[in-house]
Amino acid sequence: GIDITSLRAKTGMITLDPGFGNTGSCTSEITFINGEKGILKYRGYAIEELAEKSTFMETAFLVLYGHLPNKAELDKFESGIGSEASLHYGMKGHFDGFPDNAPPMAVLSAMLNVLSCYNTDLLTTATEGPAFELPATKIISKVRAIAAWAYRTSIGKPFMPPRPDLSYSANFLHMMFSETFNMYEVHPDVERALDLFLILHADHEQNCSTSTVRMVGSSHASLFSAVSAGVGALWGPLHGGANCEVIKMLSRIHDEGISPADFVEKAKDKNSPEKLMGFGHRVYKSFDPRAKILKGQVDNVLKALNIQDPLLDIAYELEEMARSEDYFIERNLYPNVDFYSGILLRAIGIPVDMFTVLFAIGRMPGWVSHWREMHVQSLRISRPRQVYTGETQQSYVPVNER
Ligand code: ACO
Repeated sequence: GIDITSLRAKTGMITLDPGFGNTGSCTSEITFINGEKGILKYRGYAIEELAEKSTFMETAFLVLYGHLPNKAELDKFESGIGSEASLHYGMKGHFDGFPDNAPPMAVLSAMLNVLSCYNTDLLTTATEGPAFELPATKIISKVRAIAAWAYRTSIGKPFMPPRPDLSYSANFLHMMFSETFNMYEVHPDVERALDLFLILHADHEQNCSTSTVRMVGSSHASLFSAVSAGVGALWGPLHGGANCEVIKMLSRIHDEGISPADFVEKAKDKNSPEKLMGFGHRVYKSFDPRAKILKGQVDNVLKALNIQDPLLDIAYELEEMARSEDYFIERNLYPNVDFYSGILLRAIGIPVDMFTVLFAIGRMPGWVSHWREMHVQSLRISRPRQVYTGETQQSYVPVNER
């Protein structure tokens, strides 16, 4: 019911809000969050219900198109995703150009832009019909192969072509882990756990990476370059990169025999660089519902796969301690989605360096959906203002007189 054009500031006062903590940059119908009550809904559906009953493909359709698909819509969507699963062979040369230790998020971001070079007829801002559906489908599908190829290049293994008979998640696991003469058997619990992980990451309104996608898209850059920029924003340890950092933190506590109590003390100390990674959130001030769901799932998956992970015990201990510490209570710091997701990904065999890439795969429907919504609303180019605090008048002095 809000008329966007009436909100367009013409001239006058500038609001200073560093970090945009209280600034709405748009209206959106995609995702609802109530940070005080720990509520997250995609298109009005509670995340708890989607996590229990939906699949990633169904949730991706919901996030993108605003309604749960009927059978025919879902079949069409899944078959479109299935038919776009492989990469142009020419992209192999680009992968070969990366050094073995190239960070997978750098490779992913670069290769999403490379994808645009093979689809120059799709660099549009269309929001309907094949001109939107084709790039959207290509990106949501091919991001898996890019991720798997990046991983396999880094370990010196040949690429594994996708299998049309497998689900979205199972196909990704196959492209990651199958060998030429030894197909990877996808355990149903692992496939479901990955699908759940992707559902929980599908969208999260105006976070740093989604705002980046909107910002880049607002210049009418293509969807390919907008999501490539989103990957760059997601990479940082304060955002999606936190899922790697949590496991690195838990491993360090475990391997170096640090007591969780000592670690919590360090995380509270302003003079120490330590933070309790996977804790805190700009919006959630009671709990992150995604962390609650993941915590339950981690337990189930470890039991189903008969894995005992000492890092999980450390995570429980850290959470328990933080819950009773004034520092964390006063600042409303609770586990966020990244606190338990790494343990889940580790249990299903994903290498730590790939954790944030998995986050990007899950977030792709959200990014694409925000890019589309922004163009449907015909928003103006994003261009924040600033409050200038520098010098106001200086006289130029030639270099040899300075
Ligand atoms: N450990 C210790 N102290 C913390 C933590 C933490 N994880 N997070 C916040 N604090 C403290 C801050 O030092 C600050 O203290 P102060 O008021 O005494 O100065 C206070 O809590 C408020 O924190 P801000 O950094 O101002 O909160 P902001 O909303 O800007 O940042 C963020 C949120 C980035 C998530 C922050 O909590 C953080 O760095 N957490 C760790 C990294 C992380 O887990 N990121 C993933 C977030 S979820 C996601 O992006 C998918």
